[in-house]
Amino acid sequence: MSIPLKNAQEIAEMRKSCVLAATLLKAVADFIEPGRTIKEIDDYAGRRIQEAGARSPFLGYKGYPGYTCISVNEEVVHGTPRNRHIQYGDVVSLDLGVIYGGWVGDTATTVAVGEIAPEVRKLLDVTEQSLHLAIDKARSGNRLSDVSHAVESFVQGNGFSVVREFVGHGVGRTLHEEPQIPNYGPPGNGPKLKPGMTLAIEPMVNLGDSRVKVLADGWTVVTADGKPSAHFEHTVLITEKEPEILTIPEGVSLRRR
Ligand code: MF3
Ligand code: CO
Ligand code: CO
Repeated sequence: MSIPLKNAQEIAEMRKSCVLAATLLKAVADFIEPGRTIKEIDDYAGRRIQEAGARSPFLGYKGYPGYTCISVNEEVVHGTPRNRHIQYGDVVSLDLGVIYGGWVGDTATTVAVGEIAPEVRKLLDVTEQSLHLAIDKARSGNRLSDVSHAVESFVQGNGFSVVREFVGHGVGRTLHEEPQIPNYGPPGNGPKLKPGMTLAIEPMVNLGDSRVKVLADGWTVVTADGKPSAHFEHTVLITEKEPEILTIPEGVSLRRR
């Protein structure tokens, strides 16, 4: 078991792939509108990824059939390109990765299409906040499960539940490296975090209970109770000092926290 550490040169290259992933995530999120199908949005993402000189690390991964994962309302993650139409009032989770210059960037967001119920707005806010609380624990000397615990405690404190079947992960030359990063568990366990580790932290949070199932397409994960779910993800670099969020779009200043 070993977690790859990236040197300065490799980090410089990963910054580029991650900025690209974030920039494209924003562009594709802006393309999500009522009436469009998931397939149309995924095709648009595929074109944008290709135009940027990159590839999708999802396409063909264990046979995955899309460039992105687009998961609507009760869908949690891994929503495949389908004819489902986006409707006013939907919440849409978009997960976008690129391979660029040999390095992967992986990032996701959940967007509201028009007006949504206040409890669903809170679900999105709590999920995004839980990601940032987790990132704040992604510091040299902390243990991996400090990151996991930050998500779970905040989410549970707000009355929502964390999906347990899917986890975050190390990311670098390939999409999924060691370690696996659950969004639950007691603090103080697992490997010590070290500068040069690059981690994709990605809470998946359900409005109802934590149970999920996979649809007949073999990919699309949905909540068992049919209630909405949210997903936010950043690729993060452990440094000697503050954690650095690598998946910040081009032109957005890096706020050092
Ligand atoms: N992007 C997902 C993650 O964040 C993985 C998607 S793999 C796919 O780890 F095959 F479903 F695309
Ligand atoms: Co992802
Ligand atoms: Co990921």
